[in-house]
Amino acid sequence: MKKSVGLQTLLFPMPALLVGTYSEGDVGSAMTAGWASVCCAEPPCLGVAVRQVRKTHENIVRTGSFTLNIPSCDLAEAVDYLGLASFHSVPDKLARAGLHVERAARVNAPLIIECPVSLECKLVAHLDLGCHTWFVGELMDTHVEETLLSETGKIDVGRLDPLCYAMSAKDYRHLGKVVGPAYSMGKAKDKGK
Ligand SMILES: Cc1cc2nc3c(=O)[nH]c(=O)nc-3n(C[C@H](O)[C@H](O)[C@H](O)COP(=O)(O)O)c2cc1C
Repeated sequence: MKKSVGLQTLLFPMPALLVGTYSEGDVGSAMTAGWASVCCAEPPCLGVAVRQVRKTHENIVRTGSFTLNIPSCDLAEAVDYLGLASFHSVPDKLARAGLHVERAARVNAPLIIECPVSLECKLVAHLDLGCHTWFVGELMDTHVEETLLSETGKIDVGRLDPLCYAMSAKDYRHLGKVVGPAYSMGKAKDKGK
């Protein structure tokens, strides 16, 4: 039997992403975000929830752009640091984290070089929900480290080893084992009907 445990935003797994933005003077910055998702296929869009007090919030509104960067588990310490330090008080937070940026081609936001996957997003909508704003970015381009691509050009998540954030446990985890093929294993339920 399930028990009510009150208001806990318990979706799992959550990605641990880096949201890349430019502060004034084109100074690159990044913050860690777990509350993010794909939210449309045509046009391809991604959303991220950012608290209004974050420097990243201000930057997204000013530049109309952000990048979502997917770190591997070996970047966990840097990712955690970027979720603790704010550009408001630590303007060199990226350098302290040991990370570097390069200019994105299609949006006014930086790509985090050390993250093996980076998604360029152009702000197309935002929704103020309370303390957080849900920013919707239309995907303008996707950059993937070549070594992660299979022969058919697909991303091999095993090689990517994306960092997962377990909010209830307050820790970071690797992805687990493969359970079965998506859009396929459920077909067994129709057999004989
Ligand atoms: C694992 C983790 C996940 C986080 N997820 C979010 C998030 O989804 N939205 C948010 O506004 N802040 C989130 N934070 C907090 C920000 O990353 C943090 O406040 C950061 O210092 C903001 O940086 P900025 O002020 O330079 O933008 C998260 C922090 C951690 C450690």
